[in-house]
Amino acid sequence: MLILGLESSCDETAAALVTDKREVLAHRLARQDEAHRPFGGVVPEIAARAHVEALAPLVEAALADAGVTLADVDAIAATAGPGLIGGVMVGLVTGKALAHAAGKPLVAVNHLEGHALSPRLADPDLDFPYLLLLVSGGHCQLLLVEGVGRYRRLATTIDDAAGEAFDKTAKLLGLGFPGGPAVERAAKDGDPRAVPLPRPLVGSGEPHFSFAGLKSDVARKAGKFPAADLAASFQQAVVDCLVDRTRIALGKAPQASALVVAGGVAANGAVRGALEALAGEHGLRFVAPPLWLCTDNAAMIAWAGAERFAAGLTDPLDLAARPRWPLDPDAEKVRGAGVKA
Ligand SMILES: Nc1ncnc2c1ncn2[C@@H]1O[C@H](COP(=O)(O)OP(=O)(O)OP(=O)(O)O)[C@@H](O)[C@H]1O
Ligand SMILES: [Mg+2]
Repeated sequence: MLILGLESSCDETAAALVTDKREVLAHRLARQDEAHRPFGGVVPEIAARAHVEALAPLVEAALADAGVTLADVDAIAATAGPGLIGGVMVGLVTGKALAHAAGKPLVAVNHLEGHALSPRLADPDLDFPYLLLLVSGGHCQLLLVEGVGRYRRLATTIDDAAGEAFDKTAKLLGLGFPGGPAVERAAKDGDPRAVPLPRPLVGSGEPHFSFAGLKSDVARKAGKFPAADLAASFQQAVVDCLVDRTRIALGKAPQASALVVAGGVAANGAVRGALEALAGEHGLRFVAPPLWLCTDNAAMIAWAGAERFAAGLTDPLDLAARPRWPLDPDAEKVRGAGVKA
């Protein structure tokens, strides 16, 4: 089974061809860093226009890389949300047009399900259920992944996402854009114990997250400490929060067969190392996708499409694009949580 995947929900435009045997036949990606750098963050309107320019040529290039045509594809998977709505619409409409023109089924993929299932593309031995720490630019959640389309949210952030905190810290410290990798690079030359910073919610009995107070404290201390020490201390504070909260969630998910991390922040070496140690303490397998599969890409969308298609799930051509789309629609609202819950 061969699936074409399309991704355009934030600032990466991507197309990939993936088989149900976990072969990535092609994956093409265009970043928009230069377009957004002057603003120090992603500008939705600029992102949407860039997707319009980049996506169709990327699809052609991916098909050529794989040596296949649309006729060889079994289904077309496109991100249908959540994300910046202009970009999501570009990818979803492109997916619908290709599906219609080639007479292939459309599989609408929740971008978060792409992240959530991406570790299974990388690791054929990862079975359900697993505990997933989903840490990205827009989300910070702990989910029990019970199967394709079956997610139980155990925790979420009550304010900022972890990736957002990395990006804002990079901006405050003048480390540049994109922020996460810049903070990690700067932290290598710093002392993680040099700057006292808070660990919001650490020790509380429910495994939710909060990063707004940490970010504000970095803002207060910026310029008063060397940037490398602040970067290292900030990164350590995030790691401590993620590990403490994940430990609580593990206590609530004894059925989990593995601890899994996915999303852009999973590319961070300190985060991966600390979670691996936590899994070891619990005698659990630790699974993290390779770095290129952590940040946004279309291979994870194609793979989630393959898993959904194999389960008989396809979508109609009048399906709406969704700016918000929780993985667990039954999750309770968390006190204090904003719209990102
Ligand atoms: N090495 C790193 N260390 C820390 N953070 C990182 C690293 N690499 C990327 N990130 C962060 O990951 C985020 C991007 O991840 P991703 O592409 O999955 O998010 P998104 O698609 O913008 O959000 P979402 O998936 O929630 O819709 C950014 O906030 C970025 O700073
Ligand atoms: Mg993402």
